Amino acid sequence: MAASAVKASLGRIAFVTGGAQGIGRAIATRLAKEGYDISIAEIPSGVVRAQEVKKEIESYGRKAITVTADIRDPKQIYSAIQETVETLGPKLFVSVANAGVTQVKPLLECEPEWMENEVRLNLLGLMNTHVAAARQMVKQGFGGRILGAGSIASYRTAANLGPYGATKFAVRGFTEAAANEWAQYGIRVNAYAPGIVDTPMWDHIDQELARIENIPVGEAKAKRVKRDIKLGRIQEPEDVAKLVSFLVSDEGEYITGQTIKTCGGASL
Ligand SMILES: NC(=O)c1ccc[n+]([C@@H]2O[C@H](COP(=O)([O-])OP(=O)(O)OC[C@H]3O[C@@H](n4cnc5c(N)ncnc54)[C@H](O)[C@@H]3O)[C@@H](O)[C@H]2O)c1
Repeated sequence: MAASAVKASLGRIAFVTGGAQGIGRAIATRLAKEGYDISIAEIPSGVVRAQEVKKEIESYGRKAITVTADIRDPKQIYSAIQETVETLGPKLFVSVANAGVTQVKPLLECEPEWMENEVRLNLLGLMNTHVAAARQMVKQGFGGRILGAGSIASYRTAANLGPYGATKFAVRGFTEAAANEWAQYGIRVNAYAPGIVDTPMWDHIDQELARIENIPVGEAKAKRVKRDIKLGRIQEPEDVAKLVSFLVSDEGEYITGQTIKTCGGASL
């Protein structure tokens, strides 16, 4: 275990939205291995998968709970944080606003309801999660670490992912604003910005691109991995978890307000 890992006796807690699969799951299990008790917030369809993650975390000797919350609804976020500290103790130290979604469509085909859904989840969901977590951290009085899901799309939008890119640009802005206001409370706020990560989200993107480009399923992803990723392999969710682990640790003590790319050079 790294020297900077949380001491088990502190019983510190990490809250992760969308922690049942993909990047959220990798972050939740990594932080558990480093000594955090974990609260996983998921929508009802993710609860069974979240229970499996809970079991894995318990096998590392840590506590874990799953809370049902759709982060598009601020009330459910506040309840989830409340349930987390009531069950695991008032020691929330890390909050990861990870849940996100994308549609894959040319802008001219984007329906208003879908664009609104992406804004409510990727942006408002993240903003409300950050504020709810920060309120709890300020109340506790010993600082904290807040992380959010950005993307290489926080810096450059991609074709057929327009509204998604716009929400991720905004994540970068909100990360700066929150870091600026909450440094005085010992809260550092950053975002991770992955590239092409091997998760169900990218399987969905691949399937939609296959339809748009009229190519076999699997080809759009394979083409982009080969063309864009300079380090020569698709990104694993654990690659993102490594960055999050660093940012929450004391090794990241001088870093705040940043949206940090971890993408194998895909943005170059
Ligand atoms: N996969 C990538 O290549 C990639 C790249 C850059 C950024 N990201 C970002 O990382 C984050 C995680 O991506 P992923 O690939 O692991 O996604 P994923 O789709 O594989 O998993 C997302 C999880 O969020 C949950 N979720 C969905 N809607 C929710 C809601 N309303 N409330 C609570 N939970 C909800 C889902 O049930 C699921 O478990 C997202 O914000 C995504 O935009 C992903």
